[in-house]
Amino acid sequence: MKFVAADKSCLTWSGDCLVVGLSEESLPLTGLLSNLNERASGLLQELIDETDFKAKAGSSAVIRVGGEIRKLAIVGLGASEDLNLESLRRAAAVAAKLAKREKCASLGISFPIWNNSPERTTQTIAEGVTLAMHEDKRFKSDTESSTAGLSDISLLDLPGYEADLAKAAHVCDGVILARELVAAPPNVVTPVTLAETAADIAKDHGLTLKVLEQAECEALGMGAYLGVAMASDMPPKFIHLTYTPQGTPKRKLALIGKGLTFDSGGLNIKAGAGSMIELMKMDMGGAAAVLGAAKAIAQIKPDVEVHFISAATENMISGHAMHPGDILTASNGKTIEVNNTDAEGRLTLADALVYADKLGVDAMVDLATLTGACIVALGNDVAGLFSPNDELAEALAQAADKAGEKLWRMPMEDKYFDGLKSIVADMKNTGPRPGGSITAALFLKQFVKDTTWAHMDIAGPVWSEKDNAYNNPGATGYGVRTLVQWILESH
Ligand code: BES
Ligand code: MN
Ligand code: ZN
Repeated sequence: MKFVAADKSCLTWSGDCLVVGLSEESLPLTGLLSNLNERASGLLQELIDETDFKAKAGSSAVIRVGGEIRKLAIVGLGASEDLNLESLRRAAAVAAKLAKREKCASLGISFPIWNNSPERTTQTIAEGVTLAMHEDKRFKSDTESSTAGLSDISLLDLPGYEADLAKAAHVCDGVILARELVAAPPNVVTPVTLAETAADIAKDHGLTLKVLEQAECEALGMGAYLGVAMASDMPPKFIHLTYTPQGTPKRKLALIGKGLTFDSGGLNIKAGAGSMIELMKMDMGGAAAVLGAAKAIAQIKPDVEVHFISAATENMISGHAMHPGDILTASNGKTIEVNNTDAEGRLTLADALVYADKLGVDAMVDLATLTGACIVALGNDVAGLFSPNDELAEALAQAADKAGEKLWRMPMEDKYFDGLKSIVADMKNTGPRPGGSITAALFLKQFVKDTTWAHMDIAGPVWSEKDNAYNNPGATGYGVRTLVQWILESH
């Protein structure tokens, strides 16, 4: 697919499918739109009348014109006062899917400009189209792509914004990498292949990679992480990718992702209906988001040093498995009574946070498919945001809003740490069921000493069964867009 930031308008562009975005206020047609109606010999008005088109967000209609424009389509944008980046992104996805359905090779998109920002409008439309058209057929025997048809996309009346098209392409590269890592089964994405993916990113885009093998992790005293890794036949891989800008970095940041390539639950095995054991390939969604962000950032090249970290492993069962009741010592010396082997993500993150804390960065954010309790609290579309730091929480919330990823701040209720009190060790790894996502965040906080930190529980939005505009069912790549936006806007 090729994108062009075109100086043509809906009155001059010609091609297979012209899609015009209409807000509720643009009806009845006036000005430019009535000129377009004339150009189309009145077919635009006919289309609106015949389909009783009210420009509701998500609605669309298409009619055959013939001649310079083969098909003319309209996409509803809702009320113009509600127009935001997310409605543009979704409308762009509707336009692309419509053009594909109509077997169009060239698509012209004529949408209003958001907030006097042609730059952001360009980026957002391109994101919506690219992400909507991504399909993953790697594991199907019939690999013929049904999107082969759509090849040329022109963003009309947006001349000269090539840099924003490029930014969109870099961001989408990252989102698609994250989706494909999450969607791949646990016999394909393992700790070993995840480290290979990090090596590919390093090689392709000039980042430095350090992979700490088991012996090095032992030397650093990473007993919590290695406790989880014990039952796996796969070696643990502690991944540390670094992007260093040319010149002096404006800021230094670290991203940490939970990297469980499969979570069986361990001896507290995930059993019975609703345990979702068969979906636990997605338990590396945090690591996927972090590697996706690495791929995007390495291409966008901001003035910020960024560390991308994941303590990758599987949570398995064998004679070597950690026992429920084991006491582990993390690399900061704190001891943990493992009262539930299925609360493994926080054990791996504990050592990853201690490691990242020592890098001397200005802020660090971890992403983790950490708790079912967060899904109970916020549902499948919204991630939980936990941070003792209001400024960082606000910056992430704003980044998520621009990126079109839903994020909701949760309380770090210190008192709930009582639920993790252990008789024999410094803490247990699992508290009572109520407030389960909060106790998980409070557990992580024990492993952060010096660095401004936030935690995102992405257990809900990492995967979606629903077809949702630019997210087709399956892995969403959640987190990449928010992280990239946050890094680019951080001062
Ligand atoms: N990976 C799971 C959390 C999860 C559950 C992610 C469902 C996505 C969908 C995590 O390791 C886990 O098992 N958490 C337990 C914690 C409990 C034992 C305190 C949970 O949420 O049940
Ligand atoms: Mn688990
Ligand atoms: Zn897990």
